[in-house]
Amino acid sequence: MSCGVSPDSPLLPLPVNHGTVRSHPGPVPAVGRSHPPIGATAPPCVIGREAGHYGDRVDEAGAGRRRQNEVYRAGVYGRSPRVPVGIRRLQERAKRALDARAYAYVAGGAGDEVTQRANRAAFDRWAVVPRVLRDASVRDTSVELFGRRLPAPLLLGPVGALELVHPEADLAVARAAAATGVPMVFSNQGSRSMEECAAAMDGSPRWFQLYWSTSDELVESLVHRAEKAGCDALVVTLDTTMLGWRPRDLDLGHLPFALGKGIAQYTSDPVFRRLVEERAAAAGPRDAQPRPTPAAVRALVTMARAWPGSFRENLRSPLPRAAVETFLAIYSRPSISWDDLAWLRSRTKLPILLKGVLHPDDARRALDEGMDGVVVSTHGGRQVDRSIAALDALPDVVAAIGDRAPVLLDSGIRSGADVFTAVALGARAVLLGRPFAWGLALAGEAGVRQVIEDVVGEFDLTLGLTGHTAVDQLGPEILRRVG
Ligand SMILES: Cc1cc2nc3c(=O)[nH]c(=O)nc-3n(C[C@H](O)[C@H](O)[C@H](O)COP(=O)(O)O)c2cc1C
Repeated sequence: MSCGVSPDSPLLPLPVNHGTVRSHPGPVPAVGRSHPPIGATAPPCVIGREAGHYGDRVDEAGAGRRRQNEVYRAGVYGRSPRVPVGIRRLQERAKRALDARAYAYVAGGAGDEVTQRANRAAFDRWAVVPRVLRDASVRDTSVELFGRRLPAPLLLGPVGALELVHPEADLAVARAAAATGVPMVFSNQGSRSMEECAAAMDGSPRWFQLYWSTSDELVESLVHRAEKAGCDALVVTLDTTMLGWRPRDLDLGHLPFALGKGIAQYTSDPVFRRLVEERAAAAGPRDAQPRPTPAAVRALVTMARAWPGSFRENLRSPLPRAAVETFLAIYSRPSISWDDLAWLRSRTKLPILLKGVLHPDDARRALDEGMDGVVVSTHGGRQVDRSIAALDALPDVVAAIGDRAPVLLDSGIRSGADVFTAVALGARAVLLGRPFAWGLALAGEAGVRQVIEDVVGEFDLTLGLTGHTAVDQLGPEILRRVG
């Protein structure tokens, strides 16, 4: 094999495209005599396009081989990927690039981080038994979710306060999501407003994640904004009615929101802004303040940047500080109950998914109350230490409602092989979390895009190398429990 490519690689050499090229949309040919025919339509898959434009020709090497080709071809010219492909080096490099508080915020979890480790260990207890000689030359990684065909069973999960990681924050993520066709779930704690992100995404899919604040009027306003911003679904996060006990952040005395970071969905909201103005107007004469420290001055500057309008005027205005105080006062509502969901159900036609569901009874109740799906999640082990790992909770939730509604999963997804395992255990799709934040830290939009392409590329190869050609062929019978 030429070009310094490892001899076990059956692909290459250049060029990428060997053989048939088909245009979208169109049927994916059925392959493999022993397999059921693949779903009738080809994916609107941006990953997998030659030039990365909607409607372009698709190269049948598939996302995995294409990504390998790209990397190995660049290697011939002495270039290596901008961000490490493997999760360990990716996280190590991000750690070096970030300041201590930003790294702690993203990497940290609740308590002793037992759940965070359990989320990973749960994957190690499952092994796939590959099958051979099944003609996996043409693969379809796409799945359908709420009427949209997605390039892969993958979304970018809601991750708040991304300005800690990169100045372009959510906007860079939105561009990377749009470039790949993978949906982005806008965080309620975003550093850029959903409208700004949506404007950068053309028609590509996006969802909105909602935290229930103490103001129902604000909740309603956020939901209507999400509808207007073209979101396909709402994700109501239920595991964070209070912030979990997070020693890494506590040791540093660091909460981004208290500095005005990660509150852009609020400062861009008309209801929230009215609440801020009311709060500022109601404030009496200020109590004597302690002598300002340099950190306090820096905090005020950050708050002034977070409030819309002129930075200089904001420095003198009471509103930026009132915005932070208002946020801290209304986030969030631990009293939320099933009755509130009925209220939300009556106010939007968007599909609603509940995030943070771990018990099958809660999953059943969610559907009985008119919800459209659940996300099995431990919030990345950031909320309840020693809670069940998300992947361990998945099979029971799938058994309870999998035939009625989509079950999604996050917490611990680090690679395409992890996506494969979660899907085989019944997840319709998974949400990626920390890995794309590390990519963002290292290379902004390009870093996020690379992480997405790497995960989808590995998923595609795992599909083919285990003898499968389509996502709906995956089920628990292809796995063995090994731990
Ligand atoms: C830094 C950070 C911020 C997060 N912010 C939010 C958020 O605003 N809303 C939300 O529902 N989940 C949030 N999450 C949880 C993620 O959506 C997801 O559940 C979690 O990252 C999955 O765990 P993993 O990243 O370890 O795979 C956040 C996670 C991290 C790491």
